[in-house]
Formats: sequence, structure tokens, C-alpha cells
Amino acid sequence: MKALIALILLVQLPIHKAVPAAPPAPLGCDDPESEAAAEVAVNYINGHSHHGYKFALNRIEDVRVVPQGPNDEMIFLELDLLETKCPILSPTPLENCTVRSFTEHAVEGECDVKLQKLDGTISVLASKCHSEADSNQDIGKVCPDCPVLVRLNNTEVLEAVSAALNDFNSKTTGPYLRLLEIGRGKIQYVPSHVVAVEFAVGATNCSAEEAKVNVGACQLLPEDQSNFGFCTGSMTKHPIQSIHVNCQLYGHQPGVTYAHAGQDTSAGLPPSTVGSRNHDLRLSYHDPLASESSSSEMFRSMLSAKPVTKRAVAEAAQHDKVPRPVGFVPPPPPCPGKIRYFDI
Ligand SMILES: *[C@@H]1O[C@H](CO)[C@@H](O)[C@H](O)[C@H]1NC(C)=O
Ligand SMILES: *[C@@H]1O[C@H](CO)[C@@H](O)[C@H](O)[C@H]1NC(C)=O
Ligand SMILES: *[C@@H]1O[C@H](CO)[C@@H](O)[C@H](O)[C@H]1NC(C)=O
Repeated sequence: MKALIALILLVQLPIHKAVPAAPPAPLGCDDPESEAAAEVAVNYINGHSHHGYKFALNRIEDVRVVPQGPNDEMIFLELDLLETKCPILSPTPLENCTVRSFTEHAVEGECDVKLQKLDGTISVLASKCHSEADSNQDIGKVCPDCPVLVRLNNTEVLEAVSAALNDFNSKTTGPYLRLLEIGRGKIQYVPSHVVAVEFAVGATNCSAEEAKVNVGACQLLPEDQSNFGFCTGSMTKHPIQSIHVNCQLYGHQPGVTYAHAGQDTSAGLPPSTVGSRNHDLRLSYHDPLASESSSSEMFRSMLSAKPVTKRAVAEAAQHDKVPRPVGFVPPPPPCPGKIRYFDI
């Protein structure tokens, strides 16, 4: 298959070279076909991610289409994503998820996705992602006093999560909640010392009263009754000590599972997050199709094989020297596409 794709590409190159006057328009990053493929890709990525937050499309960086046959083509996408405020277990559809603003400390995801469009139906064949929090320096330039993300295993973050959850459990009339994972932690020092945390929780089979007697016996509800939720909390340490917490349970969502529900999650730190400030898509996201790492190398090479596009653009630019009818608007460069939220 790989050999076939390479062959097709090689066969195409000379065609572009030989017919400079009419290069076939390469698919642009903002073309509806690219956007349709990106939507499928982003839904797939969120659907296979098990930790952290849902991601939204910020920009299509690059797109390549390799025809395979009649009504059959391979689409290679390079995508820039941004973290939203919707936890991965949240039932809120992506369209309704707010992208975290730049000053809230954005997390950017990058994905390479290989798709197939067969008879008009787009499906993902393989994908590879990673994500990373923006640098503190970037935020400091815009907002010197904004609190920034700290490592998820930061002692003050662990302390705040534990205090916030205890506080909630001591007051709730609902089920006793257990920590699933810490999502974010931020520390502010001026004008007061505040630790702000976000964490995912799951309902147990105990009431708060029952938990007081023997918390060890309180288990997350079994899969067919699971009830996940999310808490935001803040612990003020100075000048006065106080704790604020707000938790929301989503209710049972058939088919939705937490990846580590079976293991002890008391620390709220899936192994992949220790020492990190965000849940890296590279680790939190499991693509069942991407076992062959060669495929990701393949789309790297596909995407870096840009000369065709570049050449086409250069030729288009030369053509622009020819007088155009009044009102002619040169086409926008095909890639990268527009930025939907902000540039990092
Ligand atoms: C999502 O947003 C749309 C439009 O604002 C609204 O009608 C819909 O109820 C929202 N859905 C959820 C689950 O919040
Ligand atoms: C919760 O489930 C565990 C394990 O099934 C069980 O041992 C425990 O008694 C249950 N607790 C309550 C309060 O039902
Ligand atoms: C967090 O994890 C990193 C990497 O494992 C480690 O170097 C650091 O000491 C840990 N911090 C705390 C507070 O445990």
C-alpha cells in the first residue's frame, strides 16, 4: 500500500512540472473538504482520549490529498488544536465547549491524521498527537500577574485537591465522591496566595455518612451505573485561609468509562501526568489504529513533500504579473488555514 502511495505521488510530481500553465488547484486548508475531514479527525481524537480535556480545532496547518482510485482518496492532515474547558468525560458536545483563553494558560495540541474518503464517507485510518501547555513567558508578556499552570504533582495542588474534595464530601447529601484525576493546577501569589484546581471525580456506592465509617469500602459505581463528574476548587492560603469547591455530577452515561477506574486513583495522577502541567495527548490518547508507527512517519513525509504546493503557488504568483481583469482577487494561499481562536 505504501509503495503504491509513493508511486502515485511520484507519478504526480512530473505532471505538475510538465504542465506549469494549469497546475491543478491543490486542496486548501480552509476548503470545505479539508474542514469536513478535520471535523471527523477532531471527533475521533476526542473520542479516543481518556484524560484531561476535549480539544477543539484551531487551525488546519496542512492538507495533502492522494487519489487512490475512483471515489477513493487518502487525506493527510496536520492540525493545531486548543484545549477546551470540557473534561473528557463531560457529555457536553464539542460545539458547546469553550476554548480556554490565552490568559487562562492555553494548552495546544498538534495532530497528524491520515484519513480515507471513500464514496464520500470520511474515516480515520491513523493519527498521532501530542499536547503541551503554553510557556509561562508567553503569558507573562500579555498578563504578568496571571497565575500559570504548575505541575500536576505539585504538593500544594495535591493538598488543595484533597482539601477541596473533603470539603465537598463533608457537605454533600449526594454520593461520596472519589478523585479520578487532577486536570489542572494553578498557583497565584499576589495579591493573595491561592491554589486553583480542577479535577474529575466519580460517585461511589457510599453516602457521606457511610464513608465516615469505612471509606475503604466505598468503591466507584460499577460500569453500568457509573456517574462521573467534575470539580473546580480554590484554596486560599494567605492572608486568610479559605476553601471553595463546586462539583457537578454528569449522571450515568451509557458506554462512557474512565480508563483507570479499576485502579487505585486516590492520588489523582495517572502515571503519564507525573511531573507534567497538562495531560499530554501523546499519552492520554490511545489510537487503536496507530499501532504501526510507520504510518505516522509516512504522513510526516507526505506532509513535508510540499514542493508541489509551493511550486503551484509560485507559479500562480508569476501568473499574477499578467494583467488581470479589473476586480480580480488573487486566491488566498492554500495553507496553513485560518486561525479560529488565537495564535500561540
Ligand atoms: C449547545 O448549544 C446549543 C446552541 O447554543 C443549545 O441549543 C444546546 O442546548 C446546547 N447543548 C448542550 C448539551 O449544552
Ligand atoms: C460498596 O461496594 C463494595 C464492593 O462491592 C462493598 O464491599 C461495600 O459494602 C459497598 N458499600 C455500600 C455502602 O454499599
Ligand atoms: C513531580 O514529578 C517530577 C517528575 O517525576 C519529580 O521530579 C518531582 O520531584 C515531583 N514533584 C513533587 C512535588 O512530587
